[in-house]
Amino acid sequence: MYQDQAAEQMNVSRQTFGRIIESARRKVAEALVEGKALRIEGGEFEMKPTRALGSAQGEPLPRVLRLRPIGVIRTPFREAAGTPIQPRQAKGVKGTVELFERFQEGLKDLEGFERIWLVYWFHRASKAQLRVVPYLDEQERGLFATRAPCRPNPIGMSPVRLLKVESNLLTVADVDILDGTPMLDIKPYTPQFDCFKVARCGWLEKAASRRHVADSRFETGGEEA
Ligand SMILES: C[S@@+](CC[C@H](N)C(=O)[O-])C[C@H]1O[C@@H](n2cnc3c(N)ncnc32)[C@H](O)[C@@H]1O
Repeated sequence: MYQDQAAEQMNVSRQTFGRIIESARRKVAEALVEGKALRIEGGEFEMKPTRALGSAQGEPLPRVLRLRPIGVIRTPFREAAGTPIQPRQAKGVKGTVELFERFQEGLKDLEGFERIWLVYWFHRASKAQLRVVPYLDEQERGLFATRAPCRPNPIGMSPVRLLKVESNLLTVADVDILDGTPMLDIKPYTPQFDCFKVARCGWLEKAASRRHVADSRFETGGEEA
């Protein structure tokens, strides 16, 4: 049997050889699942996962999700410093959403909504941090308890006022978004779905700051987060 020959050549027992093979099998499997580099006899190569990561339930989870911009958002804001931190602090500030023409058909019936959600990519966010000092506080908070842009998936959402729809162009107001931001999605804002009475609002109930505009703490020169 080749295992016996191999063990003999390596000058190890059949049992030790079995353990070496088992360990190698585990390393290959880990490298495949995690997309890690695998070291074999001094050589190194990248192993790309073939399909998907396994989730706890055994369901396949894609390792990477693909998003494509559907347009671009134009606003007066060229940098984070001085940009309103939410639409409520941006009352009346106008912007334009330039939807790529191939998506224009999807704007039918949007005009009837006074507010719309813009869902977009914080393309100028600094790299993800799991603890941040948010604009409205003076102490660190968990990223997911904040709206800070430096997220693992830097996705922003703003309920802006819809002023006009003309072919593929939307004129909006109350924008807290940087100029040139890639647009991911548009949805109608409806109080029916989006507005809940709540009894708790976490750290924001005692927010230490009343700041209205951002500074540069979560911004980079434009590279992806
Ligand atoms: C606190 S975030 C809130 C954004 C959105 N309303 C939300 O809750 O997801 C708003 C700040 O994000 C920053 N910002 C806006 N567009 C950005 C972009 N494309 N890249 C990086 N930062 C951006 C600006 O500094 C702005 O003041």
